[in-house]
Amino acid sequence: MSANGLTGSDFTESEEPFKLFGDWLKEAEASEVNDPNAVALATVDEDGLPNVRMVLLKGFDINGFVFYTNFESQKGREILGQKKAAMCFHWKTLRRQVRVRGPVEIVTDAEADAYFATRARGSRIGAWASKQSRPLESRFALEKAVAEYTARYAIGEIPRPSYWSGFRIRPTSIEFWKDQKFRLHDRIEFRRPTPEGAWDKVRMYP
Ligand SMILES: Cc1cc2nc3c(=O)[nH]c(=O)nc-3n(C[C@H](O)[C@H](O)[C@H](O)COP(=O)(O)O)c2cc1C
Repeated sequence: MSANGLTGSDFTESEEPFKLFGDWLKEAEASEVNDPNAVALATVDEDGLPNVRMVLLKGFDINGFVFYTNFESQKGREILGQKKAAMCFHWKTLRRQVRVRGPVEIVTDAEADAYFATRARGSRIGAWASKQSRPLESRFALEKAVAEYTARYAIGEIPRPSYWSGFRIRPTSIEFWKDQKFRLHDRIEFRRPTPEGAWDKVRMYP
């Protein structure tokens, strides 16, 4: 069996999907040219129309998959409305995909503050200056907003905007997909009825 436990027909030692995800992410960090933590995030609007865009995974553990954003953005509003989301990682050089689905919770203020504090000063200013996903009359208007917040927070710590925080997908499904010859790929889905439940492991036709 390979180090990641997913070679050929042998998945037996990979009961724990979070551990497996961690192993794959670590391999992606070594293999991908940039942003191994980039992930497509899918949401649905109030009419059920799907929406997808990239975000960066900024935390993961057995509680779920965390990313940060502006809660007044399109994705923010859709998640706050539907309270569920899905993600899809694709690591091209590894020829692997991981899909995650589940209900979403908001991270604690302490968690969001801690992450916000690690961001570059310019990114923290940007979080204040950007009304993400709303119409912008000109690039100049954005630059002006950046200049204004840079002046406002010239001294001292930059607080986290109240509308900027993190979401955690608490997975009820995590699917691992690994390329195999002749498109006879390996697919294993870990499923559970609720985020508190026990995982079932299902192998699927490619
Ligand atoms: C590689 C990559 C990573 C990104 N990471 C984030 C992120 O972590 N958070 C975020 O709000 N937007 C991120 N973006 C921008 C989003 O894709 C998107 O343009 C923006 O959040 C607005 O999306 P919305 O209108 O659906 O809310 C990223 C874009 C790319 C290409």
